[in-house]
Amino acid sequence: MKMIKMQKTELIQKAVKARKNAYAPYSNYPVGAALYTATGKTYLGANVENAAYPVTMCAERVAIFKAVSEGEREFEMIAVVTENAGSPCGSCRQVLAEFGLDTLVLIADEQGNLVEELSVGELLPKAFTPKDLIQPK
Ligand code: THU
Repeated sequence: MKMIKMQKTELIQKAVKARKNAYAPYSNYPVGAALYTATGKTYLGANVENAAYPVTMCAERVAIFKAVSEGEREFEMIAVVTENAGSPCGSCRQVLAEFGLDTLVLIADEQGNLVEELSVGELLPKAFTPKDLIQPK
């Protein structure tokens, strides 16, 4: 079994803290994310809303884009914290799927209680992934 040095509870606590930086004046639904990479680094994210609503970026994708733009591409797990342990949106599931269906998703509430734990593949069955773009010869 693969050793994961980061504890799930610790990653959730990081997401609880990251959530404090959410800029969510329109929805009043702050979200925090903490992404733990295969190289042992953690990247934090919070949702960033905009007066032009659709421009809003989710907490998970902020964390993923931070990590990928720093050269990371393998993710062990991501903790997502909301008031009510809400589930990651479809766009975030798709972006997570790009980098692997085995990434563990920890869904927690604002007290840091782990409410659900599942893989990206379970969250997004039959995902369209980079493999689908490979043309058979
Ligand atoms: N949000 C996230 O940050 N992640 C999700 O997976 C679901 C939705 C944000 C977007 C918006 O700022 C607020 O939550 C309400 O939709």
